[in-house]
Order: sequence, then structure tokens, then C-alpha cells
Amino acid sequence: MPKFNPCLWSGCLMLMAASWPLVAMPAYADQAAVRRGEKVVDEWCRDCHVREGEALTADMAPPYSAIVAVDGRDRAWFEAFLKDDHFPMTTFRLFDHEKADVVEWLMDLQKRQE
Ligand code: HEC
Repeated sequence: MPKFNPCLWSGCLMLMAASWPLVAMPAYADQAAVRRGEKVVDEWCRDCHVREGEALTADMAPPYSAIVAVDGRDRAWFEAFLKDDHFPMTTFRLFDHEKADVVEWLMDLQKRQE
């Protein structure tokens, strides 16, 4: 029976630790957050906000392409907006991590529109 080799085992741990920064690279993480944010918006926000290209009717809210195009709509503005409840968005309840992902998605949309 081969004996358990602690050196080999710790070597493996070190390898895992060394490859970890690759997984946590900011650009990669951002895109993951953007995709999660898009899912949250699709699930919770599309009942009221028209999609890009759809006509805005009286009982619908503006598309996000218009919302992010307004002057002064930076990360801080959206973070502050998502912190509070807003009339008529009374059914609007997200976890903090979902709000953070939605902000990433909005920032990405704004960047793509520039
Ligand atoms: C019940 C309907 C409803 C839902 C659901 C809804 N919204 Fe809205 N939202 C509105 C309306 C109506 C406005 C426009 C309010 C206004 O102009 O005062 C608005 C405006 C906004 C604005 C821009 C406010 C401004 O001053 O320009 C943002 C950002 C926003 N919504 C984000 C979201 C997000 C993110 C979600 C999903 C988590 C969401 N909304 C879900 C109805 C809704």
C-alpha cells in the first residue's frame, strides 16, 4: 500500500492556490456578473420595462437603453436607485447580490451604447 504523502498533497494545494487568480480575473468576473444581472432583469423587471425596440405604451416603463442614456446615470446613481423601493416598482424586491449584478448589467449596456 502506498503511504499517504503529505508533500505531494501540499504541492497539489499550492497548485490550486496558484491557479486561483486566473479564475478570479476581474474581466472574467465582470462578464459573469453581467450575465447574472441580465437574468435578474429578465425575470423581475420585464413585466413593466419594455425591451429594446418595443414601442413604449402608457402602462409600460422606459427601456433600459433609454434609462442608461440619461446624463449622470453612473454606477453610484444606479446603486442608490436600487437601494430604495420606488413607486410604482413596489413589487421590486431583490437581494443585495442581485442588485449588484443588475448594476453590472446596466453599466455594461451603457458601455455598449457609447
Ligand atoms: C411594476 C412595474 C415595474 C417593475 C416590475 C420594474 N419597474 Fe422600473 N420603473 C417602472 C416605472 C413605471 C418607471 C418610470 C418611473 C418614473 O419615470 O418616474 C421605472 C423606472 C425605472 C428606472 C429609472 C428611473 C428614472 O428615474 O429614470 C430604473 C433604473 C428602473 N426602473 C429599474 C428597474 C429594475 C432594475 C427593475 C427590476 C428589478 C424594475 N425597474 C422593475 C416600473 C417598474
